Amino acid sequence: MNSLQKMRRNSIFSCIFLLFLVAIFTTVEARDSFACDPRNSATKNLPFCRTDLSITDRVKDLIGRLTLQEKVKLLVNSAGAVPRLGIKGYEWWSEALHGVSNVGPGTKFGGEFPGATSFPQVITTAASFNASLWEEIGKVVSDEARAMYNGGMSGLTYWSPNVNILRDPRWGRGQETPGEDPLLAGKYAASYVRGLQGTDGGDRLKVAACCKHYTAYDLDNWSGVDRFHFNAKVSKQDIVDTFDIPFRSCVKEGKVASVMCSYNQVNGIPTCADPKLLRGTVRGAWRLNGYIVSDCDSVGVFYDNQHYTSTPEDAAADAIKAGLDLDCGPFLGVHTENAVQRGLLNEAEIDGALSNTITVQMRLGMFDGEPSAHPYGNLGPKDVCSPAHQELAVEAARQGIVLLKNHGPVLPLSPRRHRPVAVIGPNSDVTLTMIGNYADVHCANDALFGGAIAAARQADATVLVMGLDQSIEAEFRDREGLMLPGRQQELISKVAAAAKGPITLVLMSGGAVDISFAKNDPRIGAILWVGYPGQAGGAAIADILFGTHNPGGKLPMTWYPQEYLNNLPMTAMDLRSNPSRNYPGRTYRFYKGPVVYPFGHGMSYTSFMHTITDAPQVVSVPVDGRHHSNTTIVSSNSIRVTHARCNGLSLIVNVDVKNTGSRDGSHTLLVFSTPPRGAHWAPHKQLMMFEKVHVPAGGRQRIGVKIHVCKYLSVVDGAGVRRIPMGEHAIHIGDIRHSVSLQAQTLGVIKS
Ligand SMILES: *[C@@H]1O[C@H](CO)[C@@H](O)[C@H](O)[C@H]1NC(C)=O
Ligand SMILES: *[C@@H]1O[C@H](CO)[C@@H](O)[C@H](O)[C@H]1NC(C)=O
Ligand SMILES: *[C@@H]1O[C@H](CO)[C@@H](O)[C@H](O)[C@H]1NC(C)=O
Repeated sequence: MNSLQKMRRNSIFSCIFLLFLVAIFTTVEARDSFACDPRNSATKNLPFCRTDLSITDRVKDLIGRLTLQEKVKLLVNSAGAVPRLGIKGYEWWSEALHGVSNVGPGTKFGGEFPGATSFPQVITTAASFNASLWEEIGKVVSDEARAMYNGGMSGLTYWSPNVNILRDPRWGRGQETPGEDPLLAGKYAASYVRGLQGTDGGDRLKVAACCKHYTAYDLDNWSGVDRFHFNAKVSKQDIVDTFDIPFRSCVKEGKVASVMCSYNQVNGIPTCADPKLLRGTVRGAWRLNGYIVSDCDSVGVFYDNQHYTSTPEDAAADAIKAGLDLDCGPFLGVHTENAVQRGLLNEAEIDGALSNTITVQMRLGMFDGEPSAHPYGNLGPKDVCSPAHQELAVEAARQGIVLLKNHGPVLPLSPRRHRPVAVIGPNSDVTLTMIGNYADVHCANDALFGGAIAAARQADATVLVMGLDQSIEAEFRDREGLMLPGRQQELISKVAAAAKGPITLVLMSGGAVDISFAKNDPRIGAILWVGYPGQAGGAAIADILFGTHNPGGKLPMTWYPQEYLNNLPMTAMDLRSNPSRNYPGRTYRFYKGPVVYPFGHGMSYTSFMHTITDAPQVVSVPVDGRHHSNTTIVSSNSIRVTHARCNGLSLIVNVDVKNTGSRDGSHTLLVFSTPPRGAHWAPHKQLMMFEKVHVPAGGRQRIGVKIHVCKYLSVVDGAGVRRIPMGEHAIHIGDIRHSVSLQAQTLGVIKS
């Protein structure tokens, strides 16, 4: 939000407050009333209140009762009340990126709800590569959200998670995302959303999540270009094989109840005004069962800042016709009625939008009468910041911390041998920095660095806690470079030269930092990257430093050297390299140059060994006879996925993971593929699957890796068509490699 948006928001608040007062003075029991209140004889028998009818019929009934003026007031985040139907105003905007947060006006802390559990920032949680952890966090967050809703402190519609691809290491909001890999981001999206929305209620929702910001949004404010004016020029190929993947997975696998379109334009069209993206892809191809919301004021932004339409009524009509259902901001509330009067939009199109938003409210139980009778109606203050929730916050931080270097090994420190420890650096006592953005009030907890410092007093080692914070990387703020800010590098090197005990560098940051100097300095024994580890970050760092927890996190993004940026404007969207322009390409999938630490890097206090025990060498890909002609077997020798018989077509690779060290530990198996040579448009390496396993010291665990051929061995060509290249595919796990040959097999040739 900018200050203009804040002013607008404040005026929206005052309006709500006035409406609220009006409601109090006009209805007898207004303060305690709710939609479809059984005490309200005027509404309780109306079809939209009848839980024995289908949601579709109830929604139709409700919309049929509304006047155009009432409908228009429901198109904005601060939705107006309809007192004659017993419907109160509703604030749609709440946030729960890594815990219930008061960044949106729908959530307030105070009274019985002074704070909520603040989990590590998403980039840290992503580094755990543990899908069940992500779902578990979502479950806890939605327990707290429901409890706060029951207490009148928050809404039920949360505009989280942020699943944009971390395309450029300078992006200020990279910290909010699950990283640079589309498969990882997609799994994160689906798991977190399932946790938030609940999976046991059929079509019912515990809370409604929202995957944002669709699409190709990953630039805030860089070198004179900001997100309100940026036109992202993106190829069809990059959309299909990168930018769409997390959103598709969020909608199709996570069954998310909402998608948010972004501020930027994609190929000349604001995303919130693009019918191909919204109606075509999100609602059409992926079949979103939910509503599409704008980023806050983005309809206003494409009219006021981008001058995309000549009148505000055209902007309102374009947005709704494109498939937007709800405006975060006042714009549609102000201009939609005039758009209808001018014939730019018809009322049925508004009804379509409302039916998407109201269906979600019905699925949340907001029109089911007595709230305490709802399946989650019993959650209350005791369910927020409970000891179990706070313990999960520590556990999430432990699982997300990444051990980048451990020479010697210096870590873990021994509380007996190392006395005292000096804890030095600008981030050594920073409650707020650890929490990252999109979180304000966390559970009261003083145990931040207490553990580390107390331990530090008794041992002989130095821990330097350095890195970035929200003044360096944030919403509205992209970084200029990848080096540590100010004189941190100098401080680290000076301390390293002077210290007599082992040195550990603990880095807090959302984005990658070029710490080549520390990686190469033999006096710096160990390096930990902790992201922004949340309210329990201090305790988790101490647990790793002293070895009560064995680190198992892995980097969810490539750590590039500063020189990587030499020929890489942030505004160049292409993922693929272009040697003729010296353009290096982006992410481990397309960039082949030197790195500080690669995607997936992360060490342990123990060691693991992989062996492939059994895997096929040849796999036939059945192709429908009708398609087996020269139009489908192209020069690069590949088959269109739509022409292959994909159903059930998979191969199984059995892998043994052996813990060859002396400590128990968790290990993430990362399985990559490399397509056959020749397809210059293919990634040179692509994550197909990951799985985290716990293996006791000396133990062994077998994992059956099931690879769906059409999904994971296919690549997207220059025209945006997904194809399966025939020939030798390499499967990589750690430093082992297995080749499998794909061969086309024609079935059922139709003779003419
Ligand atoms: C972008 O950053 C510049 C300073 O670097 C600032 O003046 C400007 O207001 C920022 N724009 C936005 C939209 O945040
Ligand atoms: C396919 O193309 C090859 C070479 O271009 C040609 O020799 C062959 O006859 C074609 N087959 C069909 C079925 O058209
Ligand atoms: C994944 O996270 C869950 C939830 O915290 C935890 O119980 C499980 O042990 C983790 N898995 C591994 C292999 O560490």
